[in-house]
Amino acid sequence: MQHEREEQHGHGHGHGHGHGHDQDHGHGHEPDAATFFDEVAATWDDDPKRAERATAIADAIRASVPLTRQMSGFEFGSGTALLSRSLAPDLGPITVSDPSRGMLEVVAQRLAAEGDTQLTPLLLELGVDPIPGGAAYDLAYGMLALHHVDDVPAALRSLQAALRPGGYLCIADLDADGGAYHAGHSHFHGHHGFDREALAAQLIEGGFVDPHLRTVYHLRKPVDGVEQDFPLFLAVAQVGQVGQAGPDRA
Ligand SMILES: C[S@@+](CC[C@H](N)C(=O)[O-])C[C@H]1O[C@@H](n2cnc3c(N)ncnc32)[C@H](O)[C@@H]1O
Repeated sequence: MQHEREEQHGHGHGHGHGHGHDQDHGHGHEPDAATFFDEVAATWDDDPKRAERATAIADAIRASVPLTRQMSGFEFGSGTALLSRSLAPDLGPITVSDPSRGMLEVVAQRLAAEGDTQLTPLLLELGVDPIPGGAAYDLAYGMLALHHVDDVPAALRSLQAALRPGGYLCIADLDADGGAYHAGHSHFHGHHGFDREALAAQLIEGGFVDPHLRTVYHLRKPVDGVEQDFPLFLAVAQVGQVGQAGPDRA
């Protein structure tokens, strides 16, 4: 089943090669962290569900943030850059980052084939590697990537530092599910989704203001043979402007 296969691939199980896919669920800093995504990069876009959810998340971002072609974008955990490609017509230059070389190779090949210079691939493990360029970006975003990031507070601080004052952060990810989404995935060491209130508090702690979280999409996946619904939230927050109250500005 295409969709089931996708979600299993997306989380490193049901892959069928029998050589351990805990890398997919491993902490980002482990040397093998990118191995699973390297393996699946070439076929990542074969499942149309992935492009469909990227389109839905892009629409939700557009509805939340007044995008212009003068704005620069930064995507973390981009995979093959489905989300950035959806947003590209409404943004200026975009950096698409991921710790998986395989994913970035797919991005680079496609950009070269299309003569696309708007997107620039960058090998980067969020929460570990600093985002280069200082406070350079107007919009940072990621889809189904934060739950793979080991150190979420460090990741949020890093994204805050990469954004200009007034810049926006948009995070699409799973709600806390008590492990249901990764049921049977014994090697998963990432986050079993996020509690919305806790993530909002972490955003404020990380230097963002006015966090809003709302449901923007529903993943469907069988768990123990029963199709289940996993909501995806979009968290939107801004870096405070000069003079605006915030934890490090008070
Ligand atoms: C489930 S995939 C999602 C890819 C893409 N955003 C999509 O929705 O098609 C998770 C992605 O997060 C990346 N990733 C894993 N650990 C990461 C980290 N510490 N920082 C940034 N990205 C990470 C993986 O390499 C992978 O490309």
